Amino acid sequence: MTLTRDLFDEPAADLAGRPGLAYLPGLALPFEQPLLAAIAEVAAAAPFRHMVTPGGQRMSVAMTNCGQAGWVTDRKGYRYEALDPETGRPWPALPPCVLQLAARAAAEAGFPAFRPDVCLINRYPPGARMSLHQDRDERDFSAPIVSISLGLGATFLFGGLKRSDRPYRLPLAHGDVVVWGGATRLAFHGVAPLPDGCHRTVGRMRLNLTLRRAL
Ligand code: SIN
Ligand code: FE2
Repeated sequence: MTLTRDLFDEPAADLAGRPGLAYLPGLALPFEQPLLAAIAEVAAAAPFRHMVTPGGQRMSVAMTNCGQAGWVTDRKGYRYEALDPETGRPWPALPPCVLQLAARAAAEAGFPAFRPDVCLINRYPPGARMSLHQDRDERDFSAPIVSISLGLGATFLFGGLKRSDRPYRLPLAHGDVVVWGGATRLAFHGVAPLPDGCHRTVGRMRLNLTLRRAL
């Protein structure tokens, strides 16, 4: 472990004055191979695509989904759709290894009853970023958000309930999991532009799985 990792190795419930963001370093590492295989299987049925924001901008992050519905954006807005608009078919089911890890992470963060029904999969090439936003297209804000990171390291930006709140910068590495919910369920968050590199198993990209209870 490097010094940086040790510095962040503190109680999950209160990370540097940001109560409600649980940082679970390396929790996904034992699931590395099944998770990567599951993502490949999902992407074979529901390919990654660059969606367009309601304002007409092509997102730098490529996305797909699994679960009972998928998060989509186009000129008409942000929403969940039961069918993949690209294929016209239902999204692939949530892989058991993803569900198992998400439940474990949520329980460690103090949300023992978390049963996600959707999972957004984000693929970041070098330079891709996600600007600060709130996850607010879900019906049930009492459930937390579980976010699993694989591949290249990124800087996660975790802000407050106002867009203007200065975000806390948390470096996320391959296998790290973060969970937020309760009072911070609607916190603004994002990802800084991805530095270039090549991860030993994932390659030249970052993959992120975001699990939520949406329906
Ligand atoms: C998201 O907010 O949907 C993605 C967060 C991440 O990639 O870490
Ligand atoms: Fe988000």
